[in-house]
Amino acid sequence: MTSPAIAFGPGRVNLIGEHTDYNDGLALPFAISEGVTVRAVAIGDGRIDAVAADLGERDSFPVASPAPAEGWRGFVRGAAGELERAGARLVGAELQFSGTVPRGAGMSSSAALEVALVLALLSVSGVAVPDRIELAKLCSRIENDWVGARTGLLDQIASLYGEADHALLIDFRTLSVRPVPLRLDDSRLITLDSGEEHTHAGSGYNSRRAECAEAASLLGVASLRDATLEMAASLPEPLSRRARHVITENSRVEDAVRALEQRDMAAMGCLLDASHASLRDDFEVSTPAVEDAVSRCKDAGALGARIMGGGFGGSVLALLPGAAQAPIGAVDVRPGPGARVTAP
Ligand code: GLA
Repeated sequence: MTSPAIAFGPGRVNLIGEHTDYNDGLALPFAISEGVTVRAVAIGDGRIDAVAADLGERDSFPVASPAPAEGWRGFVRGAAGELERAGARLVGAELQFSGTVPRGAGMSSSAALEVALVLALLSVSGVAVPDRIELAKLCSRIENDWVGARTGLLDQIASLYGEADHALLIDFRTLSVRPVPLRLDDSRLITLDSGEEHTHAGSGYNSRRAECAEAASLLGVASLRDATLEMAASLPEPLSRRARHVITENSRVEDAVRALEQRDMAAMGCLLDASHASLRDDFEVSTPAVEDAVSRCKDAGALGARIMGGGFGGSVLALLPGAAQAPIGAVDVRPGPGARVTAP
């Protein structure tokens, strides 16, 4: 038997900069140590046999012409389909994957899976890994075109570019990525699951994205990155508030980078709170379960807490001072390295 290719794709936490990626804006995520591992063994009969170990489910399809499918199968077929479309000649393989990122918790289990699948398929087929931005775009096409979620590039870039002890300042207009040291001193970052699972394909995510596109088009700008608060105020509701969120969130990302550089955790906490208020009131992606999780973090003494990721459920992120006791069920998170092939 040929030796397996093993690839790992981490999930991510987004410190700040939510719903900015598909508006050519700014975000400040980091990769976490939890993620998805894919093991691929060449079987040489032109098929992919895939096993979702955590679910005990299987799939099988021709590697050169995968048809779309629902659920996790859509990701695996999309990975093969997009790689083939990009010109990679893939070998037939047996794929097995399992993950440690909770699904639907806003920590990007989807991107972790896409990234790990693509790296494992390239590695087992002996195909060189392309530029990481191209790979991020390819992975996002899996999500957009095979899974039906019109997500941006935040999660894939965070997973591919992660660096230990750093957050990543991403400018989605230029697609530049700048690592920013994340020194928390004696404070900690935690996530707390709201208990409400979300899916991007089924939630209001796609409609928020459409609203932003409509706002930009009414303002006659290429994206909301070019809009000002004065311009946003001229829009009809709810587009006015949607645009205001995007504009103020971009500024908060810039302020957060300064707060990190100055190691000003109190300022960072205020920015997390302001981001949450904007996501709740202007972008309207919070839910009662999320509000409850944020309150539990604040009651525990958090300097700031906010909904994370696409919203409509999932986890919240909180910054706790060292002396505070985290709410029950909270998980400590810190920046870890990005996606990698661990074998051969
Ligand atoms: C999800 C999407 C990202 C991004 C965030 C919101 O995680 O996958 O592309 O839009 O929501 O910031």
